[in-house]
Amino acid sequence: MSSSDQTRVQNINLTPDKVMHKLVSLAKRRGFIFPSSEIYGGLSSCFDYGPLGSEMKKNIKDLWWNSMTRRHTNIVGIDASIMMNPMVWEASGHVASFNDPMIDDRTTKRRYRADHLIENHIEKLRRDGKTEQAEKVQSVYEALATAPDMNRALYDLIVSQNIKAPDTGSGDWTEVRQFNLMFQCAMGAVADTSNIVYLRPETAQGIFVNFHNVRESSRMKVPFGIAQIGKAFRNEIVKGNFIFRMVEFEQMEMQYFVKPGTQIEAFESWRAERFNWYIEELGISPEKLHWYKHDKLAHYADLAYDIKFAFPFGIEEIEGIHSRTDFDLSQHQQYSGKNMEYIDQTTGERYIPYVVETSSGSDRLFLALLSDAYNEDVVDGEPRVMLKLSPKVAPVKAAVLPLIKKGEMGEKAEKLRDELSMSFLVQYDDAASIGKRYRRQDEIGTPFCFTVDHQSLEDNTITVRYRDSAYQERIDMSKAVEFLAVKLV
Ligand code: GAP
Repeated sequence: MSSSDQTRVQNINLTPDKVMHKLVSLAKRRGFIFPSSEIYGGLSSCFDYGPLGSEMKKNIKDLWWNSMTRRHTNIVGIDASIMMNPMVWEASGHVASFNDPMIDDRTTKRRYRADHLIENHIEKLRRDGKTEQAEKVQSVYEALATAPDMNRALYDLIVSQNIKAPDTGSGDWTEVRQFNLMFQCAMGAVADTSNIVYLRPETAQGIFVNFHNVRESSRMKVPFGIAQIGKAFRNEIVKGNFIFRMVEFEQMEMQYFVKPGTQIEAFESWRAERFNWYIEELGISPEKLHWYKHDKLAHYADLAYDIKFAFPFGIEEIEGIHSRTDFDLSQHQQYSGKNMEYIDQTTGERYIPYVVETSSGSDRLFLALLSDAYNEDVVDGEPRVMLKLSPKVAPVKAAVLPLIKKGEMGEKAEKLRDELSMSFLVQYDDAASIGKRYRRQDEIGTPFCFTVDHQSLEDNTITVRYRDSAYQERIDMSKAVEFLAVKLV
């Protein structure tokens, strides 16, 4: 690209709050994400992926799936059912411990996470420059972890700090109660407690209960992994931020079974691999990714890190990497009465494997990529909105644009579209000026536009226009498929 091409594009800096607002609007207008059941007023924190959104999400999931199962000869995939025998959730600890501390406001009838109210309060004190008070409340809050009556201690702190609801300013609090996050439904014709089943709150348990099925059928030897992509459900209080936190979402999880004593080495290796995946495979800039080490661990973990991403609304988790010890397999052995041990055929050793888990959310990653990609600039004096998505993630890989829609030019362009469509999702657009058509494609992140023009009729070449730089070059039309294939590696 020459320097004169680069100066054709001038960037516009946007504030983070503007980015979210514009993203939500673009997502709906261009068919990425719609509010669920919108004609009935929607349903809180539920969303539908539109034509472009579902293509983009599929690309994300395919990239994850291939990076796990195709690139590792010792990882295989499964697709377990969402509803499982309820004993699974007794054994996993979710029935007893998968709770959030909730507090209700009697006046407004709204419900809040008690711990979130306190954390927001501490953040606000810091923002207001009341650092000393913030540190004091923080240390009291941290000490609550060992309080004999956690709910009472949370309530006392909320009341003593005079914490109000952030959205209404009211503070007519009930006591704090623990609410289980699992959705329940009744299976069969009669609704009573004997036939309660849960919608899974994580995909991982479908993997643990299939440990021996997969190991035996695929002749896997420890260390090996099982990967899965699927829906999970959590009855959470959702604060907004579009699709960041939903009650129905999708996870991409991999459980890696290792010999006890080797889990830290495996953990560190997966930690590095997963972090690099976001940079190398998805093109996320490293400065937007952060590590967070958990001090407060989930009931199953002895070591846990999150990969966090700098969203426009703050730095938040996109993936958890957990050392789950032998907790899950041991629990399933105890509750099912089935032996979950692995026997090493070479040494004769018997043990319950330890597990390192990588757990990413495809919806959250979708939002991370969309917010990372949102860009406004000016090209040749014309403002434009562009999604600077990696070509691998972009829903449409190329657009075919005939300069004139009728006659030989139109026919040539249609032929090119048909050839490309055998391998890639392409769009054909012959309406409006060529400049407008480029803008339409920029806005949905299409990385390349192929234009069929007068010269194409003479020498069979076409123009390739690159989205980010607006740079153009000519290639032979017969090389278009190969051109895209190379760009998508
Ligand atoms: N099996 C471990 C597990 O479920 P987690 O940290 O609770 O761990 C893993 O969840 C990932 O799932 C998160 O990093 C996030 O990307 C996604 N996730 C969790 N809850 C979510 C929600 N309510 N909405 C959207 N994504 C969610």
